[in-house]
Amino acid sequence: MRKVSITILLLTAVMFFQFCSSTKKAATAAPAVVTYEANIKPLIEANCTPCHIAGKGNKKSLDNYSNAKDFADDIIARIHKNPGERGFMPMRNPKLSDSTIAVFAEWKSKGLLEK
Ligand code: HEC
Repeated sequence: MRKVSITILLLTAVMFFQFCSSTKKAATAAPAVVTYEANIKPLIEANCTPCHIAGKGNKKSLDNYSNAKDFADDIIARIHKNPGERGFMPMRNPKLSDSTIAVFAEWKSKGLLEK
């Protein structure tokens, strides 16, 4: 389970970086578009399982757009904290990588798009 999560996380990070570098090379520098469906949902499924997945955990389910959007500020504030700090997420797990945290921040800065 943990290995699967780490693999998904790494794949997502690699895809994100490839996307960023290919955007930079493009003649028209289009901003990277981060959406809930394409980027955020897989990250939540990989890192916030089982606690925040509907039907598995008993915390707020963040595996649907509406809740993830409503809790975006809280999610972003919590993943920026360090392990041991009050409210740190993902609870009982290592801090997310800077690149993963950046994906969440980018999602917010572009208006919390669904798809
Ligand atoms: C091991 C279980 C666990 C994991 C993994 C986990 N959380 Fe939580 N989360 C909790 C618990 C327990 C609370 C309630 C305690 C609190 O508010 O600090 C909580 C609370 C929250 C809240 C406040 C809303 C609520 O449900 O009460 C947010 C937002 C949140 N977590 C985001 C995240 C995100 C984002 C991740 C993944 C990056 C994550 N959590 C991973 C257990 C977990």
